[in-house]
Parts: sequence; structure tokens; C-alpha cells
Amino acid sequence: MADPLSAVVVAVWAMLPAYVPNNVAVLAGGGPPIDGGREWRGARLLGDGKTWRGTAAGITAGVALGLLQNALVRGGVVPRASDAGVGVVTFPLAALVALAAGAMLGDILASFAKRRIGQERGAAVPGLDQLDFVVVSLGLTALVAPGWFVDTFWVAPLAVVLVATPLLHVSTNYIAFRAGLKDVPW
Ligand code: CTP
Ligand code: MG
Repeated sequence: MADPLSAVVVAVWAMLPAYVPNNVAVLAGGGPPIDGGREWRGARLLGDGKTWRGTAAGITAGVALGLLQNALVRGGVVPRASDAGVGVVTFPLAALVALAAGAMLGDILASFAKRRIGQERGAAVPGLDQLDFVVVSLGLTALVAPGWFVDTFWVAPLAVVLVATPLLHVSTNYIAFRAGLKDVPW
């Protein structure tokens, strides 16, 4: 796992169930907001950008993608990580749920924080917007599947994730903006 290519391949593969939920939420979002329109200390609790439908669709998509990834490895379509060459990992169910639900939870917590500092829905908070979901996703995964987390992410893939995620996030949001799916490019 020491070589850079292996680290990148494992990092991207293992984070796919965490990356996909936010994008699916953008596509599936709409309907009743999670906070039910409630305010707290003069601002919305979360805002209209965090909906039940977007959240449920995001988590479902992340878990479903991970199950598909597991099937691809078990079916021999994609090689397993081994000392012999570049390959990927399979996901225990607990890790999958934590990766996907943690990503959505991180995004929700970031909205909560943004409303508290007076930022309207859609406002950009550089740093928070790009890393919120990774930190909570990985943190939750480390809690529920510590052995798998250490085997998979420690330490080169973790470094790749922390550097590559903001770049990926910025570019996919820009694409979603240009495609008319988001009102702002962040
Ligand atoms: N979305 C959703 N449910 C979520 C996350 C996102 O329905 N849990 C949908 C919403 O339609 C949202 C869009 O995806 O407007 C973009 O997501 P995001 O950028 O996270 O929300 P913002 O609208 O920018 O709001 P905030 O300022 O709270 O981040
Ligand atoms: Mg936003």
C-alpha cells in the first residue's frame, strides 16, 4: 500500500459511497425540509436546502453503490488490494452506512453551522463546504468499523482523500451549476 498509485486507487474507491450522496441529493432534492421550516435564534435551523428526500436518496445511493462495488470485487471484475499489485477493498455493511450517512450528516451539520453564523442558503463558506462531509463520513466510519478504517485508509489514502476531496467537490459543483442543477457554482 506504500506506492502512490495504490493509495489514490484505494482512496477514490473507498470514498465513492461518501462522494455520491451529496450529488444524488442535489438531483433528488426537494419536498419538505428536514427542519420543517423551524427557526432557532433568528435563523432557520438548517434551511430549505436540506430535505428528507435528498437525504434519503443520497444515503440510499451511497449504500447501493458500495454494494455494487462489493459485488464487482467478489465477482472478480475488479482486483482486490494485495501486496502483489494495485487493487481495491470491499466494504462491511456498517462502514458503507457510515460513509454514506456520515457524508449527509456532515453536510447537514455544515448547514446548521452556516445558519448560525448568518449565512443564507447557498452561501459559500470555503473549507467548510469542501471538507464537512469527508470529516464526518470518515469520523463515523472510524467509530463503527475501526479495524476496516485503519486497514483501508491509514495513512497514504487518508492523505489523498484530504487533498483530492476539495478539488473534486469544487469541480462537480461547478458542473452542476453549469448544468442548471444548482443556483450557485459552489
Ligand atoms: N439537498 C437536499 N438534501 C440534502 C442536501 C442537499 O435536498 N441533505 C439538495 C437541495 O435541493 C439543495 C441542493 O441539494 O439546495 C444543494 O445542496 P447544498 O449545496 O448542500 O445546499 P444549499 O442549497 O447550498 O444550502 P446550504 O447553504 O445549507 O448548504
Ligand atoms: Mg451549498
